[in-house]
Amino acid sequence: MSTIQKVGIIGGGQMGSGIAEVNARAGLDVVVVEVSDAAADAAQHRVQASLDKATSRGKITAAEAAAVVKRVRVTTDLGDLKDRDLVIEAATEIEHIKLEVFAKVGGLLERDDAVLASNTSSIPIVKLGAVSGRSGHVLGVHFFNPAPVMNLVELIPSLTTKQETLDRVRSFVSDTLHKQPIEATDRAGFVVNSLLVPYLLSAIRMYEAGYASAGDIDNGMKLGCGHPMGPLALSDLIGLDTVRAIGISMYDEFKEPLFSPPPLLDRMVDAGLLGKKSGQGFYPYE
Ligand code: 3HC
Repeated sequence: MSTIQKVGIIGGGQMGSGIAEVNARAGLDVVVVEVSDAAADAAQHRVQASLDKATSRGKITAAEAAAVVKRVRVTTDLGDLKDRDLVIEAATEIEHIKLEVFAKVGGLLERDDAVLASNTSSIPIVKLGAVSGRSGHVLGVHFFNPAPVMNLVELIPSLTTKQETLDRVRSFVSDTLHKQPIEATDRAGFVVNSLLVPYLLSAIRMYEAGYASAGDIDNGMKLGCGHPMGPLALSDLIGLDTVRAIGISMYDEFKEPLFSPPPLLDRMVDAGLLGKKSGQGFYPYE
């Protein structure tokens, strides 16, 4: 049996609620911490909605879904994380917020070997480790959206992560969560976003320049290359604010123009057009 049984998730947004579901479906006891009662209710609702979808698709039974829901407790108190074996931070992709969270949570974990992980896609893990006061037990554990469906998890040790922490989390991901881990260096974007984000930004530039309609750009990649969804629909799914934030972090790190968000993306984010989660991005959503 894995030494990781009690899991904490910080942030119950799209990624946090998906990661909570993945852990609860693996039989683990899960605590999700949100910033307000309203956000906590929304997180609970997201888990339930995803389980309903999984049930309607025949992935799990209604009884299994009900048992999964019981294993997820949503709270607004970070102190509820103190007895956790593993905490995965999935807060907003803003560096100063993540640094504050790591400083607070690093100081309250009771177990010496408790692991504090970040689902960041671009913020340096070494910085999060440094403020936590327990950098040997800090690493990146990056899930993909939608987390209950996508099988990959990137593991990102920093210069100060202990080998035993990485080994323990690798076994946990493959043997308990039944997902495929790959290992990446602590550089903005890791493996997948380094390849994916310039592609998404190129599609947005193409749309902005009037090359083709959104539907034709997306159909081009779906029907011509066999992608499950086109780059503009995928940007909407990820969240345009998140795509922009990742692009900015990668541009800051490498100064590569392809990573720089185009003006249309900036304006859409400023306007609150964030994609699926806000009801409107390149496409409208219910
Ligand atoms: N729980 C369990 N299974 C589910 C589910 C859920 N909540 N939702 C969907 N599924 C299953 C379906 O049953 C189906 O399984 P099957 O093929 O065995 O029948 C499969 O997932 C696909 O479902 P559908 O074809 O019905 O299409 P959906 O509209 O439900 O979902 C999608 C489509 C899975 C989102 C698919 O379009 C896809 O794979 N898109 C690409 C997603 C992607 O690229 N994600 C990575 C983003 S990058 C990222 O996250 C990194 C970050 O840092 C930005």
